[in-house]
Amino acid sequence: MKISLLILFLFFFSFANFPQSENPAQIFIYPDSGKYQISRNIYGQFAEHLGHLIYGGIWVGDNSSIPNIGGIRTDIVRALREIKIPNLRWPGGCFADEYHWRDGIGPRNDRPKTINTNWGGVVEDNSFGTHEFMDLVEQLGCEPVICGNIGSGTVEEMADWVDYLTGDTLTAMGKLRKKNGREKPWKVKFWGVGNETWGCGGIMSAEFYSEELARYSHLLKNNGNNRLYKIASGGLESDYNWTETIMKKWSNTQGWLQGYLGGYSLHYYTVTHDWDHKGSATNFNEEDWFTTIFKTRRMDTLITNHSRVMDKFDPEKRIGLIVDEWGDWHDVEPGTNPGFLYQQNTLRDAVVAAINLNIFNKHCDRVKMANIAQVVNVLQALILTNKDKMILTPTYYVFDLYKVHQDATLLPIELKSEDYELNGQKTPAISSSVTKSADGTINLSLVNVNPDKSIEIPCIFKKFNPKEITGKILTSSEMQAHNTFEEPNNVTIKDFGQFKIEGNKITVKMPSKSIVVLKVK
Ligand code: AHR
Repeated sequence: MKISLLILFLFFFSFANFPQSENPAQIFIYPDSGKYQISRNIYGQFAEHLGHLIYGGIWVGDNSSIPNIGGIRTDIVRALREIKIPNLRWPGGCFADEYHWRDGIGPRNDRPKTINTNWGGVVEDNSFGTHEFMDLVEQLGCEPVICGNIGSGTVEEMADWVDYLTGDTLTAMGKLRKKNGREKPWKVKFWGVGNETWGCGGIMSAEFYSEELARYSHLLKNNGNNRLYKIASGGLESDYNWTETIMKKWSNTQGWLQGYLGGYSLHYYTVTHDWDHKGSATNFNEEDWFTTIFKTRRMDTLITNHSRVMDKFDPEKRIGLIVDEWGDWHDVEPGTNPGFLYQQNTLRDAVVAAINLNIFNKHCDRVKMANIAQVVNVLQALILTNKDKMILTPTYYVFDLYKVHQDATLLPIELKSEDYELNGQKTPAISSSVTKSADGTINLSLVNVNPDKSIEIPCIFKKFNPKEITGKILTSSEMQAHNTFEEPNNVTIKDFGQFKIEGNKITVKMPSKSIVVLKVK
């Protein structure tokens, strides 16, 4: 208590040394006071067997005329490597709790066909299975995040899958893997023990799931030097009782000793209106823009409140909060299969992505992974494909701009923002996060959510005079701006130079509805 009072005093005392500004928006930055590292895994992706994500979006098969390596599209791999994709979650989602991994191994022609009952009732031919997914993550150079089936599976089935992936060839599962063409065990760290077990993953109660989680997790083995980081399914959005129940069980059983829990998941989607009428991805007005941004900021409240419950049982923050599904969920594009969740992606989605990533960065002491839903052709996609063509969405460019934050140290900031007001409602106009990379570069990301007004932001550094700055921006004159197969470069990253340096201050002139990243030396 005394120590925290002292820290508070020092904090205020040091601000007293900063020049005060009249400007309602300003940021104070402490370049030498960073404490927490931002896990690169916050910049993760999600790939479910849903619509044209896996089939057509990633997997075209090795006989395709679309350029591929082992059946996997080379253009997608190239684009995702460019943004340094750190991890990929698979095979769902709701699909995970109906997926039986044995359907997806062995000669492709012999694999059984099943029905994807969650997503459009289409035939799943299982041509993309365990080996294909592990090949994909190897091509991407990222870590796999596998979500196991607790809803319709068994402990034995899930434990066998772990052994198939990571076990020695002396074991039955290791032998089977070798027979299917892969001798060396793979490395798999992140393992989801069910998905949305309150809903599509089994309609369980928190109490029932907490028992199941302990049983399943305890029986999934660490083979050789492979260490699993098991992720529990969280409750529905603000179900803090669910968090309390899981954390209590973990703490009562000294779960940390048994290592049965590494992370606890939270899903939150931004829906502009309601689940029946979510709103169009491209045809929206300023009220919709405001509402979307206002609602996306609920992520901060959810993380704060879930973290508070977790802190009660885990003050040392051993358990990570894993936001393994997030993003904008709009109505599907007219004329497309409603079960395929295909939506366009505008500058509004880019702003939503940037705000969420700033929120995750801010909470990086607890948030250890996040996976935007989803990577290609589904929901807030980074990439859209049409046969052999591929376009990058505004959301992709946010991940490109923000990759500088991966593994960087979060710097404490004091952000004062003016409000963006519409129809008597307000939300802060500015969102930001500031980090320091291993080479000492300071990365400043700024979002001006106001679609009508440019804003000048003085960024004042404590005991540091910037010498060299490079800037990049993502913006457009239209809120609804997006990329199409005919016009793929409507919204792309441009160089940005609207800033000036004076001593320890950079004043940045942020255009309306823009995202800026500055690299400061
Ligand atoms: O991302 C689409 C679906 O949303 C996932 O399958 C499910 O987990 C969530 O409800």
